[in-house]
Formats: sequence, C-alpha cells, structure tokens
Amino acid sequence: MKPVALVTGAAGLIGGYLLRSASRWAPDWEVRGLTRAEVDLTDRPQVQRVWNRYRPDLVIHCAALSRTGLCEQDPALARRINVEATRSLADLAKDVPFIFLSTDQVFDGAKGRYAETDPVHPLNVYGHTKAEAEPLVLENPTHAVVRIALTAGTSPTGDRSFVEDMLRAAAKGTRLTLFTDEFRCPLPAGALVRALWEFGLQRRPGLYHLGGQERLSRWEIGELLAARFPELRSAIQPGSVADYHGPPRPPDLSMRSDKIQALLSFRLPGFRQWIRSDSSVGSDPWDDSASGDR
Ligand SMILES: NC(=O)c1ccc[n+]([C@@H]2O[C@H](COP(=O)([O-])OP(=O)(O)OC[C@H]3O[C@@H](n4cnc5c(N)ncnc54)[C@H](OP(=O)(O)O)[C@@H]3O)[C@@H](O)[C@H]2O)c1
Repeated sequence: MKPVALVTGAAGLIGGYLLRSASRWAPDWEVRGLTRAEVDLTDRPQVQRVWNRYRPDLVIHCAALSRTGLCEQDPALARRINVEATRSLADLAKDVPFIFLSTDQVFDGAKGRYAETDPVHPLNVYGHTKAEAEPLVLENPTHAVVRIALTAGTSPTGDRSFVEDMLRAAAKGTRLTLFTDEFRCPLPAGALVRALWEFGLQRRPGLYHLGGQERLSRWEIGELLAARFPELRSAIQPGSVADYHGPPRPPDLSMRSDKIQALLSFRLPGFRQWIRSDSSVGSDPWDDSASGDR
C-alpha cells in the first residue's frame, strides 16, 4: 500500500496544481485532495471523521481564506479558517509531517529580500492570520511552514490567481495601474508545486521561503504578461505607490529562497526566464514541469 498524502484546498489554485502534478512528482504516493464540498475545515467533528478515514502520512495544508479583500471584510472568518482550522489540523497531524502554506504578506515590505530569520510585521488581516498560525504549526518540531510568493496559474474557479484577476479586469475594460516601485518574486504554479512535492517528500521541518529567483516590480510583471497575453497591453499603465491613496500596501515583499533551493534538484526559475522559455508554451503556460535547470 502506498503512503497517503492529504492536500487541503484541493479545489483552489495551488491545491489543484498539487493534485494534477502528483502522478509526476509523487508517483509512490496516494494523493487525496480535500475540497470544501467534502469537508468544512472549521467543523472539527467533520475534520476528525475525514482524518479517521484517510489516516494520512503527510499533509499539505493549502486551504485558506486567501483573498486579502475578503479577509479585511470578515476578519473573524479569516481567523477561523487561517488560524483555528490550521491549528486543529496540525493537532490531528501531530505524528506526521505537516506543511502549512503561508505567505510573503507576513512582512510589511519595508525591507525586501526577506530571509526566514527576519521578523514578521504584517500590514493586513490576511498577513496577520498567517503570522498568527505559523508559530502554532512550528510548535511541533516535525512540522513545516512554507511562505510562498505571488503565484501565476490557472485556477479551477478561474478567479484565484493574480494573472486571472488581471485578465478579467482587462476583459471588462478596466485600466490597471501597476506600480513601478512595488516588488514581488512571482513563481509559476507548475514550478511551485514541483518544489513543494520535492520538499514535502523529504519530510523537513522548519520555516522556508519559496518564491521566484527574480525580484520584479508590478509593472515589470505586467509588461512580461502583456507579451504573452496581448489583451493586457492596452489595459496596463505604470504608476507609483506614492500616488496611491488606500489601505497600506507592502512595497517590497521580495524573498530569498536559498534555504529551500538548497534542497531542490532544479533551480527555481525567475518569472522573466519562465515566460520566455519553452516551459511557458502550452495550453496552460504555468503548468509545465520542465522548470529551470535540472
Ligand atoms: N496564490 C498565491 O499567490 C498565494 C501566495 C501566497 C500564499 N498563498 C497561500 O497558499 C495557499 C493556497 O493558496 P491558493 O492560491 O491555492 O488559494 P485558493 O485558490 O483561494 O484556495 C484555497 C482553497 O481553500 C478552500 N477553503 C477555504 N475555506 C475552507 C474551509 N473552511 N473548509 C474547506 N476548504 C476551505 C477554498 O474553498 P472555497 O473556494 O470554497 O472558498 C479554496 O478552494 C493558501 O494558504 C494561501 O494563503 C497563496
């Protein structure tokens, strides 16, 4: 019998890619995806029943209230899912490796090029809930937290990745102002899940950053995307955070991923490199497994 890996949030962006790529990157595992339709992770008795059914040997916890706007609208709900449900699941998984997906948004973006040793200081509710959940997970010395960066991909619901958001806005005729002074290390979902599988199967505990090799401004990301999706060309315009008036935005959430990189058999790609490579040619430009050098 194969060991069982349980992936929560299986109908979401990253959970979906983990499931689709499992036969390639985790062929010796039986991978089970949990969707909200099967279990509401905030309902402890339901979660216990599902746990008893699968008795997993590894958990990759992707389920979350991941949209920052929804977290601002309902902080209590965000906390129930991102903190409480994570704590319950980590408790159930006390004897097996557990990987919690966190975010670069635990930082305030004042410094940039963040390492795992840098202190957290979130600016929004989403970042606060993730920052609260991280130490709860890490209380167990066999568990891991992986802070991931902005992820490009195609989600089952069509409304989860930033690329989908931009394409939808452009289709509606909305002008998108992309800041030249706000930075991220985006990663295509195909490369992200390959790294997550490789990392997960090594059963390494602790805190890790997982992002693309290149630090790019929102405007640079937009220009790269417009080369691939011409419909974006007339929709995007450059701007500066200095002219933005709204809730605080972390200016530089670039992360250093050297710690996880040292454990991987391939080089994490930069976003520019990915878009220009053969990897990005296909029906889903984010879903090729030949990411980076072997
Ligand atoms: N995508 C990114 O760029 C990015 C960047 C940094 C960190 N992350 C983190 O990575 C993880 C995966 O992100 P993602 O982009 O795949 O998110 P996603 O597309 O929003 O998927 C999250 C999934 O969790 C499910 N879920 C939410 N509440 C639930 C509940 N109470 N019970 C059961 N399922 C529930 C959602 O179901 P519904 O659709 O029904 O709500 C959704 O299918 C998250 O922890 C996110 O915070 C993502």
